[in-house]
Amino acid sequence: MTESVPVITIDGPSGSGKGTIAQRVATRLGWRVLDSGALYRLLGLATANAGIGFEDEFKIIEIANKIKVDFDGDSIRMDGQDVTDLIRTESAGNNASKVAAMPGVRAALLDWQRRYAEAPGLVADGRDMGTTVFPHAKVKIFLTASAEERARRRHKQLKEKGLPANLAALTAEIEERDARDRGRAASPLVPAPDAIEIDSTGVDIEDVVEEVLRRAHTAYAV
Ligand code: DC
Repeated sequence: MTESVPVITIDGPSGSGKGTIAQRVATRLGWRVLDSGALYRLLGLATANAGIGFEDEFKIIEIANKIKVDFDGDSIRMDGQDVTDLIRTESAGNNASKVAAMPGVRAALLDWQRRYAEAPGLVADGRDMGTTVFPHAKVKIFLTASAEERARRRHKQLKEKGLPANLAALTAEIEERDARDRGRAASPLVPAPDAIEIDSTGVDIEDVVEEVLRRAHTAYAV
């Protein structure tokens, strides 16, 4: 990563709206987007496909160094297979969270993520974009929302995609995943000291987009 490339980091728990906000901000600025959660989801899927135990850090790192991924607009292919929908299920999210808890796995994905920082700029969405991956970013957002609201949003998203969804189960899974992501030793889900915290519960997503854009204008004169 060249530190001169402008980067906006948007971190926060699942369903806080960071993916949508990152996409919209990037579109408005004409910048690239890094959906870092997708990388962990891909690795979780590849691990499950390979029949490897989720505790086998060494083998998971080997997979991380081998998988071939193509992002083509909205669709994602892994080793030639279209996995766009497969990585969005709740079980794929849970597998992602398990592989993401291992420090060696996180280290293996670090350079891959940093290579996304190219001119004219990058909007990076994840859990540790502001703390670990792009600590030099001048605009860091930490987005939250209540667990109930996040479960409702996820439920709506899954239904729209025609995927199975159960609100009570989703709330429980979100709380369980949050606890694991916040409690892990390696890059836990915490705001960077210089991040701005925004609670999106009951807030129009477009208002958050405008707020992030205002901060980008100030920091990067874009
Ligand atoms: O944002 P998401 O729901 O697609 O992320 C899936 C999982 O990946 C999430 O439970 C935690 C993990 N993750 C991470 O540890 N670090 C990131 N930068 C992004 C995601």
